[in-house]
Amino acid sequence: SMVRHYKFNVVMKNTTRLCSSKPIVTVNGQFPGPTLVAREDDTVLVKVVNHVKYNLSIHWHGIKQLRTGWADGPAYITQCPIQPGQSYVYNFTITGQRGTLLWHAHILWLRATVHGAIVILPKPAVPYPFPTPDNEEVIVLGEWWKSDVENVINEAMKSGLAPNVSDAHTINGHPGPSSTCPSQGAYRLSVQAGKTYMLRIINAALNEELFFKIAGHKLTVVEVDATYIKPFKIATVVIAPGQTTNVLLTADQRSGKYLIAASPFMDAPIAVDNVTATALVHYAGTLSSTATTLIAPPPKNATPVATNFTSSLRSLNSGKYPARVPLKIDHSLFFTISLGVNPCATCVNGSRVVAAINNVTFVMPKKALLQAHFFNNTKGVFTDDFPANPPVAFNYTGAQPTNFQTTKGTRLYRLDYNSTVQLVLQDTGMLTPENHPIHLHGMNFFEVGSGIGNFNPKTDPKKFNLVDPVERNTIGVPSGGWTAIRFLADNPGVWFMHCHLEVHTTWGLKMAFVVDNGKGPHESLLPPPPDLPKC
Ligand code: C2O
Repeated sequence: SMVRHYKFNVVMKNTTRLCSSKPIVTVNGQFPGPTLVAREDDTVLVKVVNHVKYNLSIHWHGIKQLRTGWADGPAYITQCPIQPGQSYVYNFTITGQRGTLLWHAHILWLRATVHGAIVILPKPAVPYPFPTPDNEEVIVLGEWWKSDVENVINEAMKSGLAPNVSDAHTINGHPGPSSTCPSQGAYRLSVQAGKTYMLRIINAALNEELFFKIAGHKLTVVEVDATYIKPFKIATVVIAPGQTTNVLLTADQRSGKYLIAASPFMDAPIAVDNVTATALVHYAGTLSSTATTLIAPPPKNATPVATNFTSSLRSLNSGKYPARVPLKIDHSLFFTISLGVNPCATCVNGSRVVAAINNVTFVMPKKALLQAHFFNNTKGVFTDDFPANPPVAFNYTGAQPTNFQTTKGTRLYRLDYNSTVQLVLQDTGMLTPENHPIHLHGMNFFEVGSGIGNFNPKTDPKKFNLVDPVERNTIGVPSGGWTAIRFLADNPGVWFMHCHLEVHTTWGLKMAFVVDNGKGPHESLLPPPPDLPKC
């Protein structure tokens, strides 16, 4: 194993998309940002230098950060932000993981433009558990706003209403030509007939789940969230913000140009950006005058297309890569996730949209939770009384209940080291049903079951897959349905869990687990590094 050094200079950069320019926050002037490459077992040191006017922090999404929570990155959860003119070195070792992940800013809405790929190669001489591709490509999907992204959310928070949706989606930073801006660049993937390419697809969008497909080609899915799965072939991939998906693309046509499309998936009665981002697969030797083979993206509410993909995911669960699903459960939790409404005297309608887990709208602390925990200084920062069940049981997915309103708090749920958790995430129609990609920091989980409607604690657990469920760090909870996950709390620290639709996180759809130290010599959180930013 080796030590890899990266330098991330966070700088403003004037960038042109949709035929107009604006300054955006970037890492090293790039959008998307640089790809971080390492091998399993490597130690990575990223020096982040803040040259912009915003406070910032960077999260290595999906990296387990075993005992190194100080390097996880969510602002006010594991660290105070890096202030303008300051720097911080994120120092972590990649243990037991290989595949594709992403890094992104974890404060305000800066991750709209501050994000990039993490490519973790297997240990030297360890092959992939599938035929070695001839080449690999990173494909980062994103969103673009014509206006300043921080203004978009600040205005929304003032008004109490939903923020404007983005003006375009992007593939490797480009929307592709559109009717309003026909001349803009599109990403091009050059291929040779007969060869196989591994595409490392990342959804770095702020607020949109996406369909991904390529005209004339099927994709073989081999990995999600940096865990190997049983390979399967499919025409359309669905990928939520924070998720990553590796697919094999075999260039099995003789020649030609084929459209790549990234289009929104949102099974909820809310506004989404309906623009499809496009890119091209271009076969070597194809004349540029050749017509492109087109493809129709699925409609935005094509839940069966999404379910067809997600229900095909199974852990590889081989001798080398076993699925260690917890079978005995120490903590059985039931969390409702929902949008609600709270009174707001200064808002245009006298109320504001909020979001909650078990009717708790999470309030960001002024000091970092991890420091408070480590130094045993939690008074006035957080409490560890997060409810294991919703305060009022109701018909979660039926007609709208009247308990719209939520309580506020910085409440955490405490877990012993190496305890096991079963967590049922239930979407509710409190305000409106909507699918939520829920992300857990610090630990992967297994998705043991999911369904539409209310979770039935008597019958549904009988149908759980405890053999080869998919292992992930971000899971889509279906609109008006539930998802059950299980995990082992083997990482001492404070771990954020939230909806990866950034607008929902802003509204309060977040909480955190505190995992206590174990008694063994390698079972405790390491001390903070000396350059840890101060609040
Ligand atoms: Cu990718 Cu807490 O986020």
